[in-house]
Amino acid sequence: MATASSKWKITDIPDQTGRTVVVTGANSGLGLATVEALAGAGAHVVLTARDVKRGEAAAATVPGSVEVRRLDLADLASVREFAAGWHGDLDVLINNAGVMNIPKPTLTKDGFEMQFGTNHLGHFALTNLLLPHITDRVVTVSSGAHKAPGSPRIHFDNRNLTGEYAPMKAYSQSKLANLLFTLELHRRLTEAGSPVCALAAHPGAAKSNLSRHSMQDSRVLMRVGSRLAQWLLAQETQAGALPTLYAAVEDLPGASYVGPDGFGEFRGAPTLVGRSKAASDPTTARRLWTVSEELTGTAFPEQALTARA
Ligand SMILES: NC(=O)c1ccc[n+]([C@@H]2O[C@H](COP(=O)([O-])OP(=O)(O)OC[C@H]3O[C@@H](n4cnc5c(N)ncnc54)[C@H](OP(=O)(O)O)[C@@H]3O)[C@@H](O)[C@H]2O)c1
Repeated sequence: MATASSKWKITDIPDQTGRTVVVTGANSGLGLATVEALAGAGAHVVLTARDVKRGEAAAATVPGSVEVRRLDLADLASVREFAAGWHGDLDVLINNAGVMNIPKPTLTKDGFEMQFGTNHLGHFALTNLLLPHITDRVVTVSSGAHKAPGSPRIHFDNRNLTGEYAPMKAYSQSKLANLLFTLELHRRLTEAGSPVCALAAHPGAAKSNLSRHSMQDSRVLMRVGSRLAQWLLAQETQAGALPTLYAAVEDLPGASYVGPDGFGEFRGAPTLVGRSKAASDPTTARRLWTVSEELTGTAFPEQALTARA
């Protein structure tokens, strides 16, 4: 394992020949940068996109072994279809796709608040359904927003934030859910005797399409703040993808959280970083797991994993 001081970089990725990786939301931003790096190191990368045409256009820019498959995380039927079409081993699943700061309350096909539904529940279902195939690890991309001002929490009594919706509140809830999911997933994998590991990462601030809603926000302050943050803090996606890549290929303790080592974790080389108290609470993590199982109709595939262990 490289240390932060050695400034881990893309060229430190070990040879990935023979490994298969799925990256969600891979047609743009950090997902595409993740695909480029892993395919560049020899992996076969399955680039998932909700719009296959956008996925194919992105894949055409990547040298190496890549293929495109459709996956809309805001639609559980699409998640099930993708998983049902998977055959054989999958070394690494990277839960990267995300939406942020949707200005007005919006629901997924299944009636979940869009950010919680896409960023957390879609990936939750996908992971449970693919786990019998996964041999090495699951990496989930969270965000510094999980500890944004206002002490983000999971609103178990009002997950859709009906009547109290605020774009950042919804995004922070979903990113906190990503970390609680990783914690409980790793606990369950360990209990089942599985060698599979669950890890999380966050990119700091990176120039991508994620801030498109913030940039078009009706509030001037939000628009100006977003542009300023992009200009002052954001790094290129190749740099922002480093924590995800580090979590995907390095030998790290289970449930680790990787982020940039610079001031405020906005940019820098990947290193292990801390998480909020809310994101470290095993009781909330278990409760979120149970609720997510009920909402998605998917369950941790304990029997399949125990048989494999
Ligand atoms: N950029 C940052 O500074 C930053 C900071 C902290 C965390 N993150 C996290 O990094 C991850 C990647 O974001 P990014 O910055 O690379 O943003 P991005 O450029 O907007 O990429 C997000 C990807 O997610 C996909 N996506 C959105 N909704 C989807 C759905 N329903 N089903 C499947 N895919 C969907 C998008 O597809 P379309 O092109 O079709 O919309 C796109 O490919 C997210 O989880 C985000 O929360 C980013």
